[in-house]
Amino acid sequence: MQEKDVIVEVKDLVKTFDGRTVLDGVNLKLRKGETTVIMGGSGCGKSTLLRHIIGSYVPDSGSITIFGKEITSLEESEFDKIRKKFGMVFQNSALFDSMNVEDNLSLALREHTELAEDIIKIMVKMKLELVGLRGFEKLMPSALSGGMRKRVGLARAIAMDPEIIFYDEPTAGLDPIVAGVIDKLILDLGKKLQITSIVVTHDMKSVFSVADRIAMLYEGKVIAEGTMEEIKHSKDPRVQQFITGSPDGPIKFFMDSGGYLEELTK
Ligand SMILES: Nc1ncnc2c1ncn2[C@@H]1O[C@H](COP(=O)(O)OP(=O)(O)OP(=O)(O)O)[C@@H](O)[C@H]1O
Ligand SMILES: [Mg+2]
Repeated sequence: MQEKDVIVEVKDLVKTFDGRTVLDGVNLKLRKGETTVIMGGSGCGKSTLLRHIIGSYVPDSGSITIFGKEITSLEESEFDKIRKKFGMVFQNSALFDSMNVEDNLSLALREHTELAEDIIKIMVKMKLELVGLRGFEKLMPSALSGGMRKRVGLARAIAMDPEIIFYDEPTAGLDPIVAGVIDKLILDLGKKLQITSIVVTHDMKSVFSVADRIAMLYEGKVIAEGTMEEIKHSKDPRVQQFITGSPDGPIKFFMDSGGYLEELTK
């Protein structure tokens, strides 16, 4: 694929928290219309990387270019224009509990567009239809199951017709069938709406269902990047250990201290 298709480029990204380097020179490219999965162990910095790309964290050094603009030095108002092209699916769905499903989905449309209320209603209906939740407009979030909340979160993320969707652990805490439904939705949205997606997960089934490309984050760096087939056949023992979920291998985990070796020695 040609360079012109790269819409997000992360270069040499470094972030240190309290003297502990979490991102240690991350390099990553996201290409238009593709689903890129970031996989890696708990606490390796996946969410931190996402938060940098959506502008919630400022890096210590390195650059992030989105749609050709370097975002780390952008004015907040300029970045807001880019942010409008983002859709975000949060791990905990982050729905507003005091608003029904329809209002949760309408919020951004009311705030950021001039659309009439009856048009917004139709758009909300369409998005709910896409995630298989037609007719659930009036339900409050507390009346939804975990899987339904995720789907409402997904419908809300696409309310503004984003060009990029960020998913943080979209299948965490779901039963295997509902997780499969969410994976299929991620795939469908990518294909039907040509949305560029970035999915952060350590659910291997999900990785291999949705990914066009996979990047593995380890010790603050992307240690492997490629197509699904390339990653599956990677000769890197760390990648193989992660894919197979083996407790034995170069990546060490200590039960009694509750962390990976690199966490402890940093
Ligand atoms: N604002 C912050 N202040 C201090 N430390 C932070 C902050 N944000 C993240 N960290 C640290 O960065 C490390 C990576 O956290 P992060 O949430 O990115 O991991 P993750 O890969 O998303 O893990 P998980 O798979 O469990 O969600 C953790 O050790 C975390 O404590
Ligand atoms: Mg996380």
